[in-house]
Amino acid sequence: MANTDLLLLVLFISLPIFLLMFLKLIVRPRPVKIPIKSRHVFITGGSRGIGLALARQVASEGSRVTILARNLEQLEEAKTSIRLSTGIDVAIVSADACDFEAVKEAVESAAPIDVLICNQGVYASCELENQDIKKIRDIIDVNLIGSFNMVKAALPGMKNRSDRKPVSIAFMSSQAGQYTMNVSSCLVEIKTRPPLTRIIAASSGTMQVDEVVKKTLNGIKSGSFFVPCNFEGFMLSIGTAGPAPQTSYLMAFIEVISVGVVRIVGLCFQWTWYGSIEKWHAQHKLLD
Ligand SMILES: NC(=O)c1ccc[n+]([C@@H]2O[C@H](COP(=O)([O-])OP(=O)(O)OC[C@H]3O[C@@H](n4cnc5c(N)ncnc54)[C@H](OP(=O)(O)O)[C@@H]3O)[C@@H](O)[C@H]2O)c1
Repeated sequence: MANTDLLLLVLFISLPIFLLMFLKLIVRPRPVKIPIKSRHVFITGGSRGIGLALARQVASEGSRVTILARNLEQLEEAKTSIRLSTGIDVAIVSADACDFEAVKEAVESAAPIDVLICNQGVYASCELENQDIKKIRDIIDVNLIGSFNMVKAALPGMKNRSDRKPVSIAFMSSQAGQYTMNVSSCLVEIKTRPPLTRIIAASSGTMQVDEVVKKTLNGIKSGSFFVPCNFEGFMLSIGTAGPAPQTSYLMAFIEVISVGVVRIVGLCFQWTWYGSIEKWHAQHKLLD
C-alpha cells in the first residue's frame, strides 16, 4: 500500500515536470520581441476609436506612424489631434480597404512597413433574419477581404526590408462579440443591438479604450499569437488554441492542463445565457 502511494506521489510530481520538458522542446515558433521604436507602424482604421488611440500611443513611443481610413477629413482631424497631444506628425492615407488597387497604392506610397495593424472594421448589430444581405456582404468585405487586401499589399515590402529585425502583422477582432468598449462608434452599435444581444453582452464588463490599446501593444511587442484583452478573451484563447502557434512553453502548459476546466467554465457561461434567453422569452410571452 505504502509502495502504491509512493508511486502515485512520484507520478504526480514527475508527470507535470515531463510535460513541461516536452513542451519546452516542441513549442514553436521561438519567442521573439517586436521592437516598435523608430520603426514604421501602419494602422488601418486609424482615424478614430481604437485605431486612433493606438496611433497616438505608438507615436508617443517613438514609432513612425501611418494611419489609413476612407474619410480624409477625419484623417486630418486625427493627425491634428495626435500632433496636439504628442507633438508628433503621423502620415495619413485615404483608401478603401476593400479596394485592392487603392490599398496597394497606399502601401507603396508609404515607407516599408515594420508592423501592420489591420484594425479597420464595421459592425451592424441586428437579428440575422432582419439583416440586409448587402450589409452582411459589406461587413465581410471590410473586415475580412479588407484585411486580406492589406496583408497582400504589404507583404512583399515587409519581406524585402533591408534590416532583419522581426516584423509583425496584427488583426483586431471581436472576442465573439462578448465585450464592448467605451468608444463613440460602439455606443451607436449598442443602441441598435437586439434586446437579447444586449442582455448577453451585459454579462461581460466594458473595457476602456486605453486599456485595450495597452494590452494590444504589449501583445504585439511580445510576439504573442493571441492577444486577449480580458479574462473571457484569455479563456477563449485557451479553448480555441488547437494547433495555434505558441511561443511560451509555460503558457502551453497552462493551455494543456486547463483546457478541460475552460470547457466547463464555457458551459457555465452558456447555462447563464440560456437562462437569460428563456427568462426573456417567458416575460415576452406573458406580455403578448
Ligand atoms: N469597439 C468595440 O467594442 C469593438 C469590439 C470588438 C472588436 N472591435 C474591432 O476593433 C476595430 C476598431 O473598432 P472601433 O470601435 O475603434 O471602430 P470605429 O471607431 O468605427 O473605427 C473604424 C475605423 O475603420 C475605418 N474604416 C471603416 N471601413 C473602412 C474601409 N472600408 N476602409 C478603410 N478604413 C475603414 C474607419 O474610417 P472610415 O470610416 O473613414 O473609413 C475608422 O477609422 C474594428 O475592427 C472592430 O471590429 C471593436
